[in-house]
Amino acid sequence: MQKIILKNKTILITGSAGFIGSNLVLELLRTQSPVTIIGVDNLNHYYDVNIKNWRLSEIDNCMSEHTDSTYTFVKGDISDKALIEQIFAEYKPDIVVNLAAQAGVRYSIENPDAYIQSNLIGFYNILEACRHSYDHGKAGVEHLVYASSSSVYGTNKKVPYSTKDQVDQPVSLYAATKKSNELMAHAYSKLYNIPSTGLRFFTVYGPAGRPDMAYFGFTNKLLDDQTIQIFNYGNCKRDFTYIDDIVEGVKRVMQGAPEKKNGEDGLPIPPYAVYNIGNNQPENLLDFVTILQEELIRAEILPSDYDFEAHKKLVPMQPGDVPVTYADTTALERDYGFKPSTDLRDGLRKFAEWYKAFYQR
Ligand SMILES: NC(=O)c1ccc[n+]([C@@H]2O[C@H](COP(=O)([O-])OP(=O)(O)OC[C@H]3O[C@@H](n4cnc5c(N)ncnc54)[C@H](O)[C@@H]3O)[C@@H](O)[C@H]2O)c1
Repeated sequence: MQKIILKNKTILITGSAGFIGSNLVLELLRTQSPVTIIGVDNLNHYYDVNIKNWRLSEIDNCMSEHTDSTYTFVKGDISDKALIEQIFAEYKPDIVVNLAAQAGVRYSIENPDAYIQSNLIGFYNILEACRHSYDHGKAGVEHLVYASSSSVYGTNKKVPYSTKDQVDQPVSLYAATKKSNELMAHAYSKLYNIPSTGLRFFTVYGPAGRPDMAYFGFTNKLLDDQTIQIFNYGNCKRDFTYIDDIVEGVKRVMQGAPEKKNGEDGLPIPPYAVYNIGNNQPENLLDFVTILQEELIRAEILPSDYDFEAHKKLVPMQPGDVPVTYADTTALERDYGFKPSTDLRDGLRKFAEWYKAFYQR
């Protein structure tokens, strides 16, 4: 493992107005200053842009406390090759974290173009820019870290999900693009010796999270006096990973790049790695929703006499769903000494408190 010190480095973070990206920027400012961060985001309307703007304002507030660091925000699209080339030429990032992507499994049925544009063409542009960062003997990019997803495991039945499992049968276009990112990164690591690490995130939740995700949608529905559907009668088990744990994991991974080595043939062995970041502790969906509801009452979003029973409907499994999914995180623990640990109730409490403050402004 090649150790990387983040202080005094230039770090490019794409998707910096996103849920994970914005929290990563905040964490780096708080713990790694002085640091130079370039954030890129196209602020698309896949979900409420007010949440993205709120996250950007949090970064502005944090910047005022860390004046030894710089944060430059570029509103733009990673599928715009000229823009990415210009950013690399101007800022010469030492570390690149690619989080910009069209996320979501269901939306890939409605708008497949967005996935091809952002996840494939956009990521290709990042790889090309990393490749050319070494031109003319320049030091170039020390580490490319990029988001993959637990969705690459498709309907894998073996649990916990391990990065050693076969993942060549994606069941959504989203998953296919994420698996493609890992393949593209491998080829570029091999051809151009780019140290790259892909991270398969498992359902991330927390304050200012994504409104397209189930826990956020459940909250909106419960508040709106609607009934929520709980699949497989609540007997699905999922890894829910709190945002702070994800950010800590990404930060640690940024600081350790796969080492550049040559093989017996004298050619580079690709400095390439992929890790799971998940809670490694699957939670029963019904328990998750019950705790969420209790925390919404505690935060006074729902009334204390809220009739939860009347607002939940237990329904059968959806075709293609798998009953239990969670991450094998032994490799992350072994290599980076880290394992997510936030308790579900603590995480959902912070979400509920943020939700109340944000929507009652
Ligand atoms: N949140 C999760 O549970 C989860 C799980 C698995 C993987 N991931 C992956 O992690 C990454 C971050 O996820 P997130 O939850 O923060 O999502 P997010 O949608 O909140 O963040 C992504 C950000 O990227 C921006 N973006 C999208 N396409 C872009 C483009 N072409 N150019 C520039 N900016 C663009 C969006 O405006 C958004 O702000 C994504 O790659 C996602 O696929 C997330």
